[in-house]
Amino acid sequence: MTAIRSVVLGCGSYLPERILTNAELASQVDTSDEWIVQRTGIRQRHIAADGEFTSHLAIKAAQAAIAHAGIDAQSIDLIVLATSTPDNTFPATAVSVQHALGINHGAAFDLQAVCSGFVFALATADNFLRTGAFKRALVIGAETFSRILDWTDRGTCVLFGDGAGAIILDAQQQPGLSTDRGILTTHLRSDGRHKAKLYVDGGVSSTQTTGHLRMEGREVFKHAVGMITDVIVDAFNATGANAESIDWFVPHQANKRIIDASAHKLHIAPQKVVLTVDLHGNTSAASIPLALSVAVADGRIKKGDLVLLEAMGGGFTWGSALVRW
Ligand code: UT7
Repeated sequence: MTAIRSVVLGCGSYLPERILTNAELASQVDTSDEWIVQRTGIRQRHIAADGEFTSHLAIKAAQAAIAHAGIDAQSIDLIVLATSTPDNTFPATAVSVQHALGINHGAAFDLQAVCSGFVFALATADNFLRTGAFKRALVIGAETFSRILDWTDRGTCVLFGDGAGAIILDAQQQPGLSTDRGILTTHLRSDGRHKAKLYVDGGVSSTQTTGHLRMEGREVFKHAVGMITDVIVDAFNATGANAESIDWFVPHQANKRIIDASAHKLHIAPQKVVLTVDLHGNTSAASIPLALSVAVADGRIKKGDLVLLEAMGGGFTWGSALVRW
């Protein structure tokens, strides 16, 4: 029995020029390079320039993904952009990307699931492609978290950065086997009981301000590994894949300790883990496509490889995806 699968044609990413190092941050708040590296694995983050918006980062990542895929932008009929830091309250940042790419057919919209945004966007696009509603999707994660940080709060301002990543998905008929190329399964979860552990203390309807990110870091950490591993086990159970059969583990890049603990619990070999958190910190919805782009560009992820993605973040939201590249 054949199946329509969302096959990855290419990916790309963009980081703003300005690099903010741990040493520089230590001159602004009571922290140190040693503390940040030991507790998180982060060495630097990129910060968007004045006048550089989430859409600008997203457009550059999208253009890189389109070039990598070798496709005509006009063949894209769906754009799903995951962000918690849109340019404007409305319209969706996705329509600015659509316009910049010269596309005026199909649909473009934003989706908000904080750090899990890319996995949620991937699953959304996949479902549209598999039903035949759209043929070719551009899925983007793009954030300017620097704009919602409280730069006097050392518990959060050292963790996050700006960036964008994108992939192109194409609806293709596949044999319907576990050896198919494309997205093989996705699993999404959320639990609003935890919403006060990681949130922004402002918003359109509540305060009419943008607000600042607030987090009970230790509480988030405590839940993260269990939630991540549960939803990966769901992906394994749905497909028959396991820690041995996957080629690469590309997790949300929030904290090296969370990534290491999750990989260890699942018995995923350390050499299969793609880690880029040292280079850009936690870029929320952008972190997975940023890491994917690095591992594809350096030749680690190749056509036919089985790639496991996961993310967890505010809400809480969490999710996994298994993709044969
Ligand atoms: O994207 C998904 C959402 N976010 C996450 O996944 C983040 C999850 N949480 C974490 O990554 C970690 O909890 C943090 C990196 C935020 C913190 O690491 P931790 O090992 O949980 O540290 P902690 O919060 O328990 O703090 C330990 C100490 C505290 O001092 P006392 O109370 O022991 O005296 C903090 O005040 O470290 C202190 N501290 C800092 N020290 C230097 C907190 N932030 C800093 C800092 N520099 N930037």
